[in-house]
Amino acid sequence: MNKAFASPIRGALVLVTLLAACSSSPETGGAGGGPSAITEPTPAPEGSPWDTLDQWHFFTDAATQTPSASVIPYDVNAPLFSDYTAKRRFLWLPKGTKIGWQDTERWSFPVGAVLIKNFGYPIDARDPTKGIRLLETRLLVHESDPAGWVSHTYEWDAAQKTATIKVAGDTIDMTWIDEKGATRTNAYEVPNTNVCQECHGKTGKTSSLAGRTRQWNRDHDYGKGPENQIDHLVALGLLDVAPPPAAQRQTLIDPSGTGDVGERGRAYLDANCSHCHGVIGLAKGTALRLDYDHTDPIKGDSTDFGVCKSPASAGAGGTCGLSFDVVPGHADQSILVCRMETLTAKVTMPPVGHKLVHDEGVALMKAWIDAMPEHLCQ
Ligand code: HEC
Ligand code: HEC
Repeated sequence: MNKAFASPIRGALVLVTLLAACSSSPETGGAGGGPSAITEPTPAPEGSPWDTLDQWHFFTDAATQTPSASVIPYDVNAPLFSDYTAKRRFLWLPKGTKIGWQDTERWSFPVGAVLIKNFGYPIDARDPTKGIRLLETRLLVHESDPAGWVSHTYEWDAAQKTATIKVAGDTIDMTWIDEKGATRTNAYEVPNTNVCQECHGKTGKTSSLAGRTRQWNRDHDYGKGPENQIDHLVALGLLDVAPPPAAQRQTLIDPSGTGDVGERGRAYLDANCSHCHGVIGLAKGTALRLDYDHTDPIKGDSTDFGVCKSPASAGAGGTCGLSFDVVPGHADQSILVCRMETLTAKVTMPPVGHKLVHDEGVALMKAWIDAMPEHLCQ
């Protein structure tokens, strides 16, 4: 999906943009002039985010998503579905700080860390050279306690020149051409920043969802050909301990790839559902656990991931008139599939973050359930 982004534009254009960025740079209390100051991100004072994205200096050219020297681009193994947008992710850490490594849990990021995610629609998904219509750039900024992680989003203007902070959300009417050449439309929703916590966790407890071994353990091209992203962090001295070798790290496979359907299903659920359906999260009360560790069919308890599990809330809307979350071998009788297939408010899953049905995700969940050894629940 990321190949849809035009490759970074270098040379003269970058220089022009750097000069332009310099003149609009916020006062930083004498961070020193000269070209190096321009390529260094400029964190906003805690509690007072900048009005525009360019003031952070995360990008030398935000419109082409060309990151500043100390901003690290990365991809995830299993992306969250966000209405077919193409997304690019970046990490910035203040000098001298490190990430706290975890084999399976969420990594801990130092105060000052910023995670950055750009959302856009390809103009024509068949032809990456036509570029991307950027929609919003989301930030998770790790401030000191008690604020902790705070969420911001910057909405891009139609001219694709400026991204301005947006608190109350917005709708952007979009048309684009998908991989098959079909014209698609969506009233794309820039979320109100209160909504972020429904997935990322409450204020002060908000956290990174992609920052974990199973999502980061993959290759990315940092200019010298494919390189493991975690090894890249090690080489930059950004992890607090030496991680195990790449082959021994927990890894999600690509849900839209051609791997084992069981593993693809687990990867999809981990990326799209586990932030709420976990031991912590908004849906913990349902006891439906969809994180990678709980969906292990051999080591796990299969009722955790819905097999023959009666739903916690028995409202007719929320059950589609069916009795069990997952009926092995029978996707058509499984509430889990039905709730992904509908867009009805209060029934659709996930409850936030999309306006379209993820057809490929639904197809994968059907295949995952139909591949389970068939048996009827009672
Ligand atoms: C529907 C759930 C959901 C909502 C709502 C949501 N996010 Fe996320 N976000 C995720 C998931 C899951 C990931 C990790 C997977 C990915 O990036 O595809 C993520 C990743 C991110 C990242 C990349 C870094 C990381 O490690 O998590 C940033 C930055 C981010 N979100 C910011 C925001 C902001 C700001 C908002 C609100 C304006 C928001 N998100 C709303 C689920 C959500
Ligand atoms: C933003 C949080 C959130 C996300 C993300 C989310 N859910 Fe839910 N889900 C809930 C909440 C809250 C409930 C309980 C209330 C209800 O049934 O609507 C629930 C209930 C359910 C139920 C009924 C479970 C039971 O046993 O009671 C199913 C099935 C379900 N979700 C499937 C999914 C799937 C599949 C995904 C990912 C594609 C997903 N959900 C993502 C919040 C979420």
